[in-house]
Amino acid sequence: MAQLKKKIALIFGITGQDGSYLAELLLKKNYIIHGVKRRSSSANTERIDHLFDSVNFSNKRIFIHYGDISDGTSTLNIINKIKPDEIYNLAAQSHVRVSFDIPEYTADITALGALRILEAIRILNLKKTKYYQASSSEMYGLVKNKKSLNELTPFHPRSVYGVSKVFAYHTAVHYREAYGIFASNGILFNHESPRRGPTFVTKKIVQGLTRIKKGIQKKLTLGNLYAVRDWGHAKDYAISMWKILQYKKPDDWVIATNKENTVKKFLNATAKKLSIDIIWKGSGIKEKGIDRKTGRTIVDIDPKYFRPSEVDFLKGSYSKAKKYLKWKPSISTNELIEDMIKYELSKID
Ligand code: NAP
Ligand code: GDD
Repeated sequence: MAQLKKKIALIFGITGQDGSYLAELLLKKNYIIHGVKRRSSSANTERIDHLFDSVNFSNKRIFIHYGDISDGTSTLNIINKIKPDEIYNLAAQSHVRVSFDIPEYTADITALGALRILEAIRILNLKKTKYYQASSSEMYGLVKNKKSLNELTPFHPRSVYGVSKVFAYHTAVHYREAYGIFASNGILFNHESPRRGPTFVTKKIVQGLTRIKKGIQKKLTLGNLYAVRDWGHAKDYAISMWKILQYKKPDDWVIATNKENTVKKFLNATAKKLSIDIIWKGSGIKEKGIDRKTGRTIVDIDPKYFRPSEVDFLKGSYSKAKKYLKWKPSISTNELIEDMIKYELSKID
């Protein structure tokens, strides 16, 4: 019997949180994986080291290439060399707060980076290559009705990160309509994991409170405690990316849990799991979380973590993905917190 040809995937952003889970998933599905890594002074492959020999940058089914989506020529050359069946564009300057400090850079990577990849697919006339765009719930931004958001909800971004993601979203739709490219958007709501970058709020909270519990950190300093987010687990969301590209036609999909929590609720739930009893006192930037046992302030607020314009509310309806992709989240926020705590404890013990 003829052996089925292995599918080839190219992941931009393979060293990131989502890239690492997606690479794991695709390896299990017997893909050959190519990943693009940008040059940095340290290896920066911690999230994928377990998948291959990081010294030689290869094993039998995973290959890493130096590249950068700010560089159109190298991006086109990599795509031309590999001619992948599927391209996942997960590469971005992905931090919303940082996009207020480096807006031009953010737009270059997060907006134009997507355009450069799509242009390469078009110029190379890769009719069979499917493209996944890592779109974001940040595109919704200023939400008028605090109800579940879906594929039809209008966008009103509140940061250059959000604006750049709207550009990339519409560029994917445009290349689909104008050139017939199989380009799909996954509009993913916040998703976290033990591999989350340390300056995102969930990781900061779980890492901070675990260290406080173990006596190696005194205090956790945060910004807006009242923003509402819909937090899922990155492992579940990687599955949705793959499903989106296996669907019979290119389309746009909301991926979420349809559950809402404030930052403060997430923090209180984490504290409870660590048996830290917090009493809240004060309000605004004077609000403090006090450890009932010691009487010490363990959480305080610094205005530097506030954003010039905030996204107050994000909750997504994944009913379209459930109906057509048969995707639904399998890991609850509680289980997510437990997974993140377990990892932080393992780093300390
Ligand atoms: P992440 O951990 O910050 O990973 C971003 C990846 O992009 C990293 O591999 C990073 O490389 C790479 N990258 C950055 N600039 C690049 C450049 N110029 N050229 C090539 N690669 C570059 O983000 P994530 O949480 O995995 O998210 C993946 C994607 O989904 C991002 O596009 C993000 O904006 C989007 N998204 C995330 C969420 C979420 O809640 N996590 C929700 C919706 C959408 P380094 O490792 O070298 O930094
Ligand atoms: N990062 C951070 N640090 N956020 C804080 C802090 C803090 O100390 N204190 C409060 N927050 C609030 C932010 O103001 C925001 O309302 C919320 O916590 C979540 O912030 P982040 O974890 O930084 O995530 P985000 O929602 O801004 O962006 C993430 O999700 C998007 C999808 O909606 C990122 O992963 C984006 O790349 C992604 O597109």
